[in-house]
Amino acid sequence: MKHRDVYLDHNATTPLHPEVKKALTEVMDCFGNPSSMHAFGRRARGYVEEARETIATFMGALPEEIIFVGSGSEGNNTVLSTVGCQATNCDCERLHKTHIVTTTIEHPCVLETSKCMQGRGGRVTFVGVDRQGKISLDDLRDSITDETGVVSVMMANNEIGTMQDIAAMARVVHEKGTLFHTDAVQAFGKIPFNVHDLGVDFLTISAHKIYGPKGVGALYVRRGVPFCPLVHGGHQERGRRAGTENTLGIVGLGKAVAMRAEEMADEAIRVAGLKKMLREGIEASIPDVSFNGHDTDTLPGTLNVSFAGAEGESILLYLDLEGIAVSTGSACASGSLDPSHVLLATGTPVEQAHGSIRMSLGRENTVEDVEYVLEKLPGVIGRIRDMSTVYTRS
Ligand SMILES: Cc1ncc(COP(=O)(O)O)c(C=O)c1O
Repeated sequence: MKHRDVYLDHNATTPLHPEVKKALTEVMDCFGNPSSMHAFGRRARGYVEEARETIATFMGALPEEIIFVGSGSEGNNTVLSTVGCQATNCDCERLHKTHIVTTTIEHPCVLETSKCMQGRGGRVTFVGVDRQGKISLDDLRDSITDETGVVSVMMANNEIGTMQDIAAMARVVHEKGTLFHTDAVQAFGKIPFNVHDLGVDFLTISAHKIYGPKGVGALYVRRGVPFCPLVHGGHQERGRRAGTENTLGIVGLGKAVAMRAEEMADEAIRVAGLKKMLREGIEASIPDVSFNGHDTDTLPGTLNVSFAGAEGESILLYLDLEGIAVSTGSACASGSLDPSHVLLATGTPVEQAHGSIRMSLGRENTVEDVEYVLEKLPGVIGRIRDMSTVYTRS
């Protein structure tokens, strides 16, 4: 097959949707400050509020429950770093408690913020997962104390794709009188959900995982739930996130969500079919492989696979030479040769974790892409194994 570029790293980021690009081009000249009362400002305000409405409708929220933020990381930081807040000038009394419960497989922006709160006198419990990345409801329940300010569990894992039963978790957390946050950055726009059915108090999303621009996200905060801003200053976002709104980014996020509403259902089926083809092709053509994550409760396009006797980084580089983009661990952790904290948390042996790559498929991938990968991958793995001093075929 002729050389082609195949992008299989949609969990790291996604290309702009053509409709998002069009929407951005159309509003590029709208420079007004959404807080200004004149026509320039009112026009920008109109765009911001239209996007808020679209996002709220898509997730079953009220527009005033959506706060625009600078990234998924900022949304997660906002929720976690206000636990233990002692401010008296905002509505955050229930956040005065200083204990955070989260899990061992969260994205670094949750793990590191939690550790930072630990350094500031807070206490954190990291709940572990089973071999497929699932969190037990009993473990979660047992970790909550009277001092727990918030429980944070990701809806879908960025490395292995495993999805959690967020609605059941929210019930457990509320029974204990605690607030519940979910990082839905990877799940949003890929699987359908409604914040009311889930019953969560806080939920984070990010535009660049759903074919929107980078550097913009949103935080859902259920009406009536205590909240303390991370960024203080002006009255933007009803005093909940200061800073002049990123109008262009917000328009891009709004359009990306509008396109998810149109395309998500069909795309999930198509992408899951491509993933199945990829998985079966790998199993049929390469010996000594194992797949990481949950078999059924998983994101439609995420496939994490370990190849015995081959380093993930070598596989990535060889595939890159063939035009195929995959990743090892999360994009934020790449550059470090440590094995993935997610795989280690699932009890994956270190050697197997070192030999893993993540392939994440998306809307522009085709059957021809998968055929190309299946043509190139066996040769790449074979070459790496031939150079290995430790690999012997089982
Ligand atoms: C699960 C998860 N949470 C949070 C983030 C951070 O989002 P952002 O890149 O918008 O800061 C990512 C990005 O990889 C992610 O996968």
